[in-house]
Amino acid sequence: MRIALLPGDGIGKDIVKQAVKVLDAVGKKYNCVFEYKEALIGGEAIDKVGTPLPQETIDICKESDAVLLGAVGGPKWDNLAGNLRPEAGLLGIRKALGVYANLRPAIVFPQLKDASTLKEEVLKDGIEIMIVRELTGGLYFGEKKRVQTEEGQKAWDTMVYTEKEIDRISRMSFEIARKRNRKLTLVDKSNVLESSRLWREVFTNIAKDYTDVAVDYMYVDNAAMQLVRNPKQFDVILTENTFGDILSDEAAMLTGSLGMLPSASLGDGKVGLYEPIHGSAPDIAGQNKANPIATIMSVAMMLRYSFNMLDAADDIEKAIVTILDKGYRTLDIMQEGMTAVGTEEMGDLIAGEIK
Ligand code: IPM
Ligand code: MG
Repeated sequence: MRIALLPGDGIGKDIVKQAVKVLDAVGKKYNCVFEYKEALIGGEAIDKVGTPLPQETIDICKESDAVLLGAVGGPKWDNLAGNLRPEAGLLGIRKALGVYANLRPAIVFPQLKDASTLKEEVLKDGIEIMIVRELTGGLYFGEKKRVQTEEGQKAWDTMVYTEKEIDRISRMSFEIARKRNRKLTLVDKSNVLESSRLWREVFTNIAKDYTDVAVDYMYVDNAAMQLVRNPKQFDVILTENTFGDILSDEAAMLTGSLGMLPSASLGDGKVGLYEPIHGSAPDIAGQNKANPIATIMSVAMMLRYSFNMLDAADDIEKAIVTILDKGYRTLDIMQEGMTAVGTEEMGDLIAGEIK
């Protein structure tokens, strides 16, 4: 199994290294070989070859069976033009692989419920929400421009969606809901946005093919509120790109830390892209402080969705639970009475449980 590694910037290198340790442990246990090829993306690619997404990186990813990405970006590159920023590399690889569905599960581990800023009663009995974020359309990819007018500058971004784009991700979301608790909430702003009204129409039509799934509609402002008021009401949330970006950071805080949310990006092609939802955290990069769990959980998703290694995926998730049960915590989820460990130790501990 060929895996492209795109560590990227900031803590990207720290966390991808831990995920590879865990993959190697899986390889040993299941007697299979993971072959890694590292490639440049983001700020590091800008520094070394002058572009955030070199063609060579695209080629390496397309020739792989799956891609593991760390994070991109940092203050060093903040003043570059939009299409030359590290983030353009990330958007570019998502687009190049055609991974339009970004699955972001927010799981509250009982061991960490005190790490959340929410009251225990809101989180009790566990939370497991799946956010399905559209990843290759909307505001991120619509026409954007800046012009000079007589009254000063003017800039715009456009939120564009085609029926086809909504259709394919809606169907995928219904299929996902079918394998879970059969509840699917479409989050939009259809009281204001025309693109949202198209989402509702297309989605409602497809719902007729999935009468076994309970469907619900919610405006995004209300959804932001409901996520912290009563998160248990959600099973699967489907939403467009920008709303999904925002809501998934919010959902991460249910779990106590941004460092706990993995993601899988899938399309109709064969290559899946796996990455934690958090950013590059340049302030703690290279200091053995980052939480590698989101990336390690992303690897579990890779084993499940790209390699159909369901037992191995379960092994990783169980290993994480065991290590949390034993009281080990990285700084972001550290609490009184627990044992603080660094990035490397957390990686070693989780990998060590897979035998
Ligand atoms: C994410 C990140 C990215 C996004 C940034 C880094 C471009 O916030 O994956 O959620 O907005 O998609
Ligand atoms: Mg984000």
